[in-house]
Amino acid sequence: MELIRIPRIIQDTCKKHLQKGRSIGFVPTMGALHEGHLSLIKRSKMENDVTAVSIFVNPTQFGPAEDLDRYPRDIEGDSKKIRELEADVLFLPDDRMMYPTGFSTFVDVEKISGKLCGEFRPDHFKGVSTVVSKLLNIVRPTRAYFGQKDFQQSVVIKRLVKDLNFDTEVVVCPTIREHDGLAMSSRNAYLNPEQRHAATALFRCLTEASQAILSGKHSPAKVREMMHAVLSGEPLITAIEYAGVYDPETLDAVAEIKGEVLLAVAVRLGNTRLIDNMLVNT
Ligand code: PAF
Repeated sequence: MELIRIPRIIQDTCKKHLQKGRSIGFVPTMGALHEGHLSLIKRSKMENDVTAVSIFVNPTQFGPAEDLDRYPRDIEGDSKKIRELEADVLFLPDDRMMYPTGFSTFVDVEKISGKLCGEFRPDHFKGVSTVVSKLLNIVRPTRAYFGQKDFQQSVVIKRLVKDLNFDTEVVVCPTIREHDGLAMSSRNAYLNPEQRHAATALFRCLTEASQAILSGKHSPAKVREMMHAVLSGEPLITAIEYAGVYDPETLDAVAEIKGEVLLAVAVRLGNTRLIDNMLVNT
């Protein structure tokens, strides 16, 4: 595995692979890798000649009161996992490499970035869109892999890839869950044992809502009420930011449950913010 820290160098390396007719699969991450990330790397390995992974804790996607400083970092452990999966390239830039002095260009995907999580994390998707655009420009991957766990992120990235004519296919892979249903996330490491137990309410709320829809409950207001009731029944959940039934393309709350709908939820457990979602086909 080649370890590269400088954008210009990985740009040249990837360009050479493409010139030789090799497809490149790219898995952008912020590190603290779990099985969810590893599933993306495995998928990329299956579908491409070359797999590149990046680890960069992107400061522009964290708000001033958010967890940038305490975000889990484990470069040594992560590198070992990536090497074991036989990825070809690991891109490990630092803040100065990605945002040199004078940096002043941002990518903002309007409308959808302001919905759901965007209401609570105002500049988050602007930071994600900017860094993902930079990474796609540097690597020029044939395919880029993201997890469904960050559903809104995948919608924003698909939009920007289309709008900015990136020659990359966005591949969204299934959420990987713990044995009790909790979606894997680097932020689960913040939870104490009681909060970890309480966090199962997210998956419970999604599965109960999905079952209700599939067995004929077709009022979005009733389903939303059900979801809130499950989450409110867990005393360690300190805030419900949103929970309901949404259109998977526009991310608007639906007026009627028809075709494919998105069940999505964001809560706070003390200082930790957790999100999860499920697609339901009616
Ligand atoms: O999903 C993530 O880990 C990040 O938001 C991403 C896509 C790597 C951009 O920093």
